[in-house]
Amino acid sequence: MTNNNLTTFVGIVSDLVEKTTSNSESYINFSLNDKVTKIDTKAWQTTMEEMNEKNIENGSFVIIEGKINRFKDKDQIIINRSNEGLRIRLINENDPINIDQFIKTAPLKDDIMRSYFREKISEIEDAEYKSFMEQIYFDYENKILSYPGSITVHHDYKMGLAYHMYRMLKSAHALADVYKDINRDLLTIGVLLHDIGKVKCYDVTIDGVSKGYTLENDLIGHIAIGIIILEKYELKEDKKDLIRHLILSHHGKIEYGAVVPPMFKEALILHMVDNLDARMTIMEDELEKIEEGQVSDRIFFLDRAKVYKF
Ligand SMILES: [Fe+2]
Ligand SMILES: [Fe+2]
Repeated sequence: MTNNNLTTFVGIVSDLVEKTTSNSESYINFSLNDKVTKIDTKAWQTTMEEMNEKNIENGSFVIIEGKINRFKDKDQIIINRSNEGLRIRLINENDPINIDQFIKTAPLKDDIMRSYFREKISEIEDAEYKSFMEQIYFDYENKILSYPGSITVHHDYKMGLAYHMYRMLKSAHALADVYKDINRDLLTIGVLLHDIGKVKCYDVTIDGVSKGYTLENDLIGHIAIGIIILEKYELKEDKKDLIRHLILSHHGKIEYGAVVPPMFKEALILHMVDNLDARMTIMEDELEKIEEGQVSDRIFFLDRAKVYKF
């Protein structure tokens, strides 16, 4: 849509910050996101105060009138200013726009993931484990099925947490066919609870868009929050210790945030499928950004390896 040489852009705000130019002038910088693209957006000579007055924050769904500027081989949007102020505002119900078209979501329907989680829980053989798992799962099912899996790295979209659990659960049970004497009850519980603390780590809008981290995330972190959640539910201590270990060891190494390294087979499988799914997802995301025959830049979260698309 163009009007007076201005183009209309619609999307979701993330990474909103106030910055200062070399001439000490404040400006606002953020990313404007839709399902696939993320465009760097700038508004000169303004402050966070003006954004606050317009109720614009991370996760806000906005409409902008501005211009595209080419900077260092990338497009960026420059927001224009009129007499009434900056040409950016929140979308309202009079705008003929469907929010869902802009929100990045997992590539699987929530019904499919819900029924798979419920099916795997119903297959838990040990009655005590089963009732423990059912209680926690049904208390958190809505959040498990809508939350992102992270804010910036992998599964950083609506239902990302569920998609991560879904693929891990499939992988973990496939590996239980390969290795002998694997306790499938613990695999199911481990996958469904390893990141349960994340339901308290992200500030999420009613549309399922994340606004950022919660204070609990910064102060406590998802592993310890997971342990705190467990404590509210009844289970014999020896069984609960095994589940505590699954959560505490799922990052594998102390330097990656694990409290202890995996000490039994199910904990090792959990760690491996968690790591595999995170890395595979980062790789898939990078492959989407490049063409056939191309090699990507170094990827920080893949230990600085590059990705090749053939
Ligand atoms: Fe984790
Ligand atoms: Fe995880």
